[in-house]
Amino acid sequence: MISPTPPPVIRAVIIGCGVIGLHHASVLTRHPAFEVTALVDVSEPALAAAAQAIADQGAPRPQVFTDLAEACASGDADLAVITTPSGMHVDQAEAALAANLHVVIEKPLDVDLGRALRIADAADAAPHLSVSVISQHRFDPASAAARAALDEGRFGSLTSAIASVPWYRSDAYYASGAWRGTWRMDGGGAVMNQGIHTVDLLRWFLGRPLQVSARVARLAHAGIQVEDVAVATVEFESGALAVVHCTTAAYPSQAARLALYGTHGSAVIEGDDLAFLHAAPADLDPGTQPLTGASAENHAAEWLEKAGRAGGPPLGSPALVGHWRQYDDIARSVTRGERPGVTARDAAESLALVRAIYASAATRRTVDFGAVLGGDYEGVRPDLNG
Ligand SMILES: NC(=O)c1ccc[n+]([C@@H]2O[C@H](COP(=O)([O-])OP(=O)(O)OC[C@H]3O[C@@H](n4cnc5c(N)ncnc54)[C@H](O)[C@@H]3O)[C@@H](O)[C@H]2O)c1
Repeated sequence: MISPTPPPVIRAVIIGCGVIGLHHASVLTRHPAFEVTALVDVSEPALAAAAQAIADQGAPRPQVFTDLAEACASGDADLAVITTPSGMHVDQAEAALAANLHVVIEKPLDVDLGRALRIADAADAAPHLSVSVISQHRFDPASAAARAALDEGRFGSLTSAIASVPWYRSDAYYASGAWRGTWRMDGGGAVMNQGIHTVDLLRWFLGRPLQVSARVARLAHAGIQVEDVAVATVEFESGALAVVHCTTAAYPSQAARLALYGTHGSAVIEGDDLAFLHAAPADLDPGTQPLTGASAENHAAEWLEKAGRAGGPPLGSPALVGHWRQYDDIARSVTRGERPGVTARDAAESLALVRAIYASAATRRTVDFGAVLGGDYEGVRPDLNG
């Protein structure tokens, strides 16, 4: 009997060996579909520490480079993983694509929507390469369960949502990297950096936004340029309405919360958990209105059970789950030539929603999402120094 050939391991170069670059290294050295063959960073100490961390996990020591072009030309990688400050993402992704590498880009896709749309076009023009953007919470069992219920029509139609990210970041956090809290490299504050995960989930569940109205403020961090509090209302093309609230000035931080409300069912995701899910019967007649919500059962455990089975990291590493599951999706995309679960186009639309929040706050007007996507508000940002 002929034994099946094992699938080839995907060789990854990690570009940016800071906080999240090390997290990617932890996932990729454990994940059977990948190995880390090279690292790139402008900081020699960061490179040395990351190479050592990989060797400490029993994996082969990767090559190290201070120059991205040299690493891409080395021929030692199939996949570039971009984990540098946000404002560098697209330029580096373009260099990797030009070297014929598959690409994974950390969130946000970039800080500049024009550049983000450029890489989305480049990805469309290179269907033989996989270009994906990290949005690991889409792969959490809680999100997957709610998405499955939505896809089966078990919420009826979604009518409203509340997305809240009440987090705290200290001055020391912002001081830990010169790029943090700057418009040029972070691209924004509580919405662009921290809230974008929940903003992306909101858009994933509710579809394309139509109009956005927002206010932002900088209330608790003197040393940054960007907002630490933001609130917005979003009207979607479906007619659904949502409230967005993101802050890094909410001591001591509580779990991000996304509540989705529909005509026949609802879900609440708190942190990575599915706190509540009520799904209508599979044979739902949308013309029939439920009588009262008073006796609605919580079906979360049952839907989590269905969503929770596939994939997952080795025991003892729960913090790696989201990225691990997204890498399952990336491995499928790279090896089978299929579209990844989160494309650059998808991430560009989430970035556009963040940009729409800033455009509305800066102009103190309601803005059209389509106009933002079309480039009307390029570079417009709130002045928080007044
Ligand atoms: N998905 C998530 O949950 C998550 C979490 C944290 C950060 N992030 C994202 O990851 C990115 C990096 O964040 P971080 O917290 O790891 O930042 P960090 O400052 O800890 O690390 C950035 C690294 O990039 C290196 N670098 C800077 N310029 C470079 C260049 N030109 N070429 C190569 N390397 C360069 C720096 O030396 C540093 O080691 C950001 O876009 C952030 O939004 C995502």
